[in-house]
Amino acid sequence: MPQLAQRVGRAKPSAIMVIAEKARQLKAAGRDIISFSIGVPNFLPGDHVYEAAREALKHDSGQYGSNRGAEPLLDAFLRHIEALGFSGYGRMNLSIGIGAKQVLYNLAEAMLDEGDEICFAAPYWTTYHDIADIVGAKANVLHCGPEQNYKLVPAQLEAALQRKPKVFLFNNPSNPTGMVYTREEIAALADVLVKYPDTWIVTDDIYNSMVFDGIGYHNFVFAQPELRERLVFVDSVSKTYGMPGWRVGLIAGPESVAKAVTTLNSNHITSVPEVITAAAVAAFGGPQDVPRAKCEEFAGKRDVVFEALTAIPGVVCPRPQGAFYAFPDISVAFGKSHQGTKISNDVEFCAALLEATGVACVPGSAFGEPRAMRISYTCPTAQLKPGLERIQAFFAQLS
Ligand SMILES: Cc1ncc(COP(=O)(O)O)c(C=O)c1O
Repeated sequence: MPQLAQRVGRAKPSAIMVIAEKARQLKAAGRDIISFSIGVPNFLPGDHVYEAAREALKHDSGQYGSNRGAEPLLDAFLRHIEALGFSGYGRMNLSIGIGAKQVLYNLAEAMLDEGDEICFAAPYWTTYHDIADIVGAKANVLHCGPEQNYKLVPAQLEAALQRKPKVFLFNNPSNPTGMVYTREEIAALADVLVKYPDTWIVTDDIYNSMVFDGIGYHNFVFAQPELRERLVFVDSVSKTYGMPGWRVGLIAGPESVAKAVTTLNSNHITSVPEVITAAAVAAFGGPQDVPRAKCEEFAGKRDVVFEALTAIPGVVCPRPQGAFYAFPDISVAFGKSHQGTKISNDVEFCAALLEATGVACVPGSAFGEPRAMRISYTCPTAQLKPGLERIQAFFAQLS
């Protein structure tokens, strides 16, 4: 019997999908389910995006396209990143992928040999660890608990970089915590990064349009432009434009990296389809009312979620300032019981919560922080308060 490659044994199914599937089954069985589990934006892009796709369909060549991305898309992305604050980038600094996820996988293949070290903060987006495992890299996870607002601090970064990792992977705004680094915090970390020239820096900042409270989006290169030669910025249409199913991600970085990703594309995906490309051009280049309105809406929902969670005795929730997640520390519940069901950890907590109340959240251990759980608050507004009230009632019933 032939054996599968060892890397398949290292690949784990997503813990988020496991909860989502359980919620789906309960719903199919007639239960009233409120899902705070999947990180999908739950809105659609503006009409101009669909119009562009329909128009492209009329003229579709049906052919393979550019491995790097079609020029109109690269140009639209360049204008988009200039508006964010990146300057001096050209087409040769860019490359494309089937969503940020595939881009990140390509970057791992481009930068990491087996046994190389990659460091990133926890709580982390689950896929970071999985990609490291699949390519056989060693993950150095830098724990940033609720005590430090789930944020990496310069001393921690310095200690990690002294080990000369090949890659430092950074995420801002954060999935799963909703934390956003201020200009000063980014500058302080950038001061450390400039001292370690042997490490690639990847900033996965796909929630850059969803920043609240006027903090703004900041990147290490804004503080230390010399980092440009080893920093790669990752973006995507998924969250900003409500287009996760369209699967378009892009990078801006050094030419050597963009070329490597383009070469990998020529072997993995070849190109992004024409119709999808046209939709992405319209998203980046068209009116930005939808992302702006959604950012405002999510900021309002954040207030509701934050208020409800911090009203629960013993629950600690650093205040999210971006994306659409909250990440409360729920460890006050561990060791207690809910109507006879013992809860000793985050996984048992989320299972009991789902079973008893129909509210689906993701255990924090999926993100490297077992004291917490993730709430994704993109559900319809009408479900938000009832869902939070069920969580509050669940806590109140613990004994
Ligand atoms: C931090 C982060 N990076 C990357 C991705 C993947 O995005 P895409 O849909 O572009 O593959 C996600 C999706 O949830 C994410 O939260």
